[in-house]
Amino acid sequence: MTPGVGQALRPHFPAFAHQPPPFHYLDNAATAQICAPAAEALLRFETRTRANVKRGVHRLADAATTAFEGVRADLARYLGVADPDEVVLTTGTTAGLNIAANGLRHRLGPGDEVLVTELEHHSDLVPWHLAAEATGATVRAIPVGEDGRLDLDRLGRVLNDRTRIVTVAHVSNVTGTVTDLPRLAAATHAVGAVLVVDGAQGAPHGPLDLPTLGCDLYALSGHKMFGPTGSGALWGQMDLLAEMPPFMGGGEMIRRVTIEGSTFAPPPHRFEAGTPAIGPLIGMGAAARFLMTLDWNALRRHEARLTGRVLEGLAGIEGIRVFGPPAAPDRVGVVTFTVDGLHAHDVCQILDAERGVALRGGHHCAQPLMGRFGLVASARASLAPYSDDDDVDALIEGLDDAIRRFR
Ligand code: ALA
Repeated sequence: MTPGVGQALRPHFPAFAHQPPPFHYLDNAATAQICAPAAEALLRFETRTRANVKRGVHRLADAATTAFEGVRADLARYLGVADPDEVVLTTGTTAGLNIAANGLRHRLGPGDEVLVTELEHHSDLVPWHLAAEATGATVRAIPVGEDGRLDLDRLGRVLNDRTRIVTVAHVSNVTGTVTDLPRLAAATHAVGAVLVVDGAQGAPHGPLDLPTLGCDLYALSGHKMFGPTGSGALWGQMDLLAEMPPFMGGGEMIRRVTIEGSTFAPPPHRFEAGTPAIGPLIGMGAAARFLMTLDWNALRRHEARLTGRVLEGLAGIEGIRVFGPPAAPDRVGVVTFTVDGLHAHDVCQILDAERGVALRGGHHCAQPLMGRFGLVASARASLAPYSDDDDVDALIEGLDDAIRRFR
């Protein structure tokens, strides 16, 4: 039998050769498997050209710095932006969003508002809570409808001339909903605010064209886009980055330091204090280059078909409640559900032990959204390009079987 689109990709992902079957990895929204080019680039750096970056004058330091700076260019191409210096290299989305929230504090004061959404991950809530606490600003939220989509028709009730910052997930890590960023960007800019985007779940779904999406800052994680853990990036328009103070102080982010004070390097280095996660970041660059060789039209069709199968399969099992919109262009393969009478953690453990299916269970670092749906915890299956029908079959058959037994 010819392998499916997803199975054909598996030789590029070492985990599939190392895990004993059955292995159905459906926890990609938490961490996706590393692709071989990223793993090889990480190992090559650590074993052959390991040295610190930006500060050495010897050959190895030079090679390491060249490889490290090349990551900005890889990411800029992946994000569809022209200037690699607009790419700040970080340890992940959380770091990027904290840099953003700290850097934009000077735009906030008492009476000002930060607009989040009910579907945000805690990484895109807590940094804004800290900023609001420090400045006297207020945090408000765009509501989420029953279908798990942002209710942008009610945007006018929460977006106003006191809104300074709008911050939103590109893709929800719970409902898989894709935010209409161009629409939100137009509304945000119309009130003179800036649009910050949590791209943790959006960036893994193929190369982007950020100028078309209209956001001002975009944070992503390397480990969710098939690169090493501990890597990430924050893209920002240069003018905006230039007005943002650094988040952390330390080596290689300064212009001049005296005993009395410091001045800072321009972006992106201003935001990269200390020794960065050099190997993981070089691996992330390799992952971005690898992703740009794939046929994303075919992969998106593949993901949409599999997502449809997951949704249909779950809908066919009595006692399962699914969250998020029906399969549609504005939803990716992240499917959250509950099972009557079974805690999400039990669902995950049973599926893992009996079928080799890896799911995530819990509040998904999105307690406000869980509260919106009246939940404490739920189970989640999340797809990646290497997912295929065998994974969907194992999930649906495993759930069906478990529910029959526990009923
Ligand atoms: N943010 C990751 C998730 O949603 C960890 O699972």
